[in-house]
Amino acid sequence: MKNTTEKKIKINIIGTGSCVPDNVVTNNDLAKIVETSDEWITTRTGIKERRIAEPGTATSDLAIKAAKKALEASKIDPQKLDLIITATCTPDHLFPSVSCLVQHAIGATNAAAFDLSAACSGFIYALNVGRGLLESGIYKNALIIGADALSKFTDWKDRGTCILFGDGAGALILESSVSDDKSHTILSVDLGADGSQTNILLIPGGGSRHPITDKGIDPAYPPFIHMDGKEVYRHAVIRMIQTANNALQAAGKKPADLALLIPHQANLRIIESIAKRMQIPMEKVFLNIHKYGNMSAATTIVALDEASRSGRLKSGDLVELMAFGAGFTWGAALIQW
Ligand code: UT7
Repeated sequence: MKNTTEKKIKINIIGTGSCVPDNVVTNNDLAKIVETSDEWITTRTGIKERRIAEPGTATSDLAIKAAKKALEASKIDPQKLDLIITATCTPDHLFPSVSCLVQHAIGATNAAAFDLSAACSGFIYALNVGRGLLESGIYKNALIIGADALSKFTDWKDRGTCILFGDGAGALILESSVSDDKSHTILSVDLGADGSQTNILLIPGGGSRHPITDKGIDPAYPPFIHMDGKEVYRHAVIRMIQTANNALQAAGKKPADLALLIPHQANLRIIESIAKRMQIPMEKVFLNIHKYGNMSAATTIVALDEASRSGRLKSGDLVELMAFGAGFTWGAALIQW
């Protein structure tokens, strides 16, 4: 017979951290390499500058720094970590995983470690996988990272894409708890995918379909981001509203209950359109797109870390993360801060 006094396991965030490269690239810097302008980029995207990793700096370098900050904030001994999941689509190598590189660098010798690929939605996917493994009781805690260096897979001659992306990493520590304290608790997560739209947003070459051979790169299949921006825009608005509403509904909440919405920062016009349709005032929407552009899997977790550290989030606030990316993939996570 089930013990009715048994308490439900809650999954709490006990610390966050983030890291962006020091190197700032402004719109005017880009106007020197492609035919564009600060005015076009600002009005069409809301981006003013982005951080670009220097040659020699890889995704794991950013992920390790973000992880160390999250560990510091949560005051957890790295050797007590059970699990590391990094969401990334730009790993240092096809293998080993970024998570294994992080595991070694932070001394988390007792942690299992693997990467997860869901492009810009990756962090929310990783959060839900970690949450599930903790809820099941398999693990007690997990380090969840979102880290990408899309600049390494960008065609710097393509003005339609090179203006959009930046590099960065964010991390948080999840811990299971049976206490009644509801702070920093994940209330619900919604995920979705549509694999029929792969040609709209992809990196055509460099994988096992069109590998780089001893003859070099096949110019028909470059290892750089290819995107039909208009189509991605359309899908992004529809899917992010849908997934945000699903996560709210699952927790019995409404958009009006949100203290803060943290949307994927791909385009300010996408964010404004979503906020308008969800009837959420822009004062309740977190923005850092002007500073960083689209950092793929790092975007929502870097924003959550900034919102938390800047005092924008108060205890008890309802905050929702939402993202959309290649695949297509999308997801939303509702958190009681
Ligand atoms: O994380 C994955 C999710 N990614 C996204 O959500 C991105 C979604 N898409 C977008 O954000 C927008 O579609 C873009 C910002 C990429 C493009 O904005 P748009 O309003 O859809 O512009 P467009 O692609 O329709 O291009 C309009 C015009 C074109 O010129 P013509 O054909 O009208 O003469 C482009 O060639 O703007 C031109 N253009 C540019 N002009 C100056 C495209 N990129 C640039 C540029 N500078 N950087």
